[in-house]
Amino acid sequence: MFFVRTASERDLAKVSALLGETWHATYDALYGADKVAELTAKWHSVPALKARIARKNAEFVVADNGKDIGGMGFAAMSETHKKGAILHQLYVLPKFQRQGIGREMFAELETCFPDAEFMQLEVEPENRAAVAFYEAHGFVKIGETANCGDGQSGIPAIIMEKPLG
Ligand SMILES: CC(C)(COP(=O)(O)OP(=O)(O)OC[C@H]1O[C@@H](n2cnc3c(N)ncnc32)[C@H](O)[C@@H]1OP(=O)(O)O)[C@@H](O)C(=O)NCCC(=O)NCCS
Repeated sequence: MFFVRTASERDLAKVSALLGETWHATYDALYGADKVAELTAKWHSVPALKARIARKNAEFVVADNGKDIGGMGFAAMSETHKKGAILHQLYVLPKFQRQGIGREMFAELETCFPDAEFMQLEVEPENRAAVAFYEAHGFVKIGETANCGDGQSGIPAIIMEKPLG
């Protein structure tokens, strides 16, 4: 039985491994294993995750069953929209997917930003499971970007938004 709690630095090695495994399972077929390895090494190292845990106006959660970390999620207030929160990451290990963990982590994250009027995210359009998950949780497509995540990732994404409150 998994419960959702705020992440601590002690969790980060497991979270980094979870992201590596889940990224390869989700994106190798779309971007190739080399590109996935390059991005996951840059974005999901323990130091990169440590910087996220330290961020203000942000929430970093994990799903824990006392033995494994089965999922992670990270959301923060937007740096450009005063009234917007951004869901940056939501990942569940493949073997634990479709058991309600994503739903539980999202339910926690969407209540963490009382000043936000909406939440936005970027998702790979070919990632049908994720798009279906977000649609089931009230997000609609509002635009597109050619560089998901950071400056020049070269990864296309659709932008989805959900009103909050
Ligand atoms: C997308 C993800 C976070 C969803 O988490 P999850 O724990 O597997 O999903 P849940 O069991 O909470 O599903 C909740 C609802 O979302 C929808 N959903 C989830 N996975 C789905 C799938 N593969 N296909 C269609 N709908 C899906 C369903 O409506 C589901 O409700 P139901 O099971 O009662 O039908 C998870 O599958 C994941 O980590 N996927 C790989 C990584 C990823 O794509 N992350 C998002 C990056 S933007």
